[in-house]
Amino acid sequence: MNGNIQIREKIESDNIQIQKILDECFGHNRYDRTVYLYRKTLPLRHLSLVSCIKDDPSIVIGTISFYPVLLNKIKCLLLGPLAVKLKYQGEGFGKSLIKRGLELAIAENQKICFVSGDYNYYKGFNFYKVNDKNLNIKTLGPLSFDDLLICELKKNAFSLLPKNSKLLPMA
Ligand SMILES: CC(C)(COP(=O)(O)OP(=O)(O)OC[C@H]1O[C@@H](n2cnc3c(N)ncnc32)[C@H](O)[C@@H]1OP(=O)(O)O)[C@@H](O)C(=O)NCCC(=O)NCCS
Repeated sequence: MNGNIQIREKIESDNIQIQKILDECFGHNRYDRTVYLYRKTLPLRHLSLVSCIKDDPSIVIGTISFYPVLLNKIKCLLLGPLAVKLKYQGEGFGKSLIKRGLELAIAENQKICFVSGDYNYYKGFNFYKVNDKNLNIKTLGPLSFDDLLICELKKNAFSLLPKNSKLLPMA
């Protein structure tokens, strides 16, 4: 299936399909989750991507967004939501979205990306548990997964980070 996947920037007319996928994957009560406290602004437009089947790019199969966040005064990214239509899960749509999203983020000189997600999935994309990096990062509330995950997009970016800090939404 991989060669048949197209990743493109999200357009306005994708919104209804995206909401349906998010409802299907996370339920209608998803807005109560802590991550939504970081999603009060719009996601970064050029990093808001959808995955489609090449033959039919108007049908959205998966979606990824990145929100701007602040760690003390350092601008970082928060990956999510990431979701793939139930029927198409396990066919590479999720991986392709993360890969392209991180490539674009690196190309625009972003330094650090966070995600609240399953370590076993994200470790393949060079995400680490913040605790394993000896970072004590407070969040605005409890996260659904045990630990916040962090990815270095720029070499040695971890060294810029304070040992104790708080992750805040971009005002
Ligand atoms: C998580 C999700 C985005 C992955 O997308 P996908 O298109 O199904 O996954 P891909 O086909 O790209 O990748 C599949 C691979 O990831 C692995 N994988 C998927 N979920 C995993 C998990 N939770 N832990 C470990 N591995 C996982 C699969 O075993 C498979 O491995 P393989 O390539 O070695 O066979 C998708 O399953 C989804 O939408 N889930 C529900 C919403 C969700 O949990 N989103 C992420 C929250 S941060």
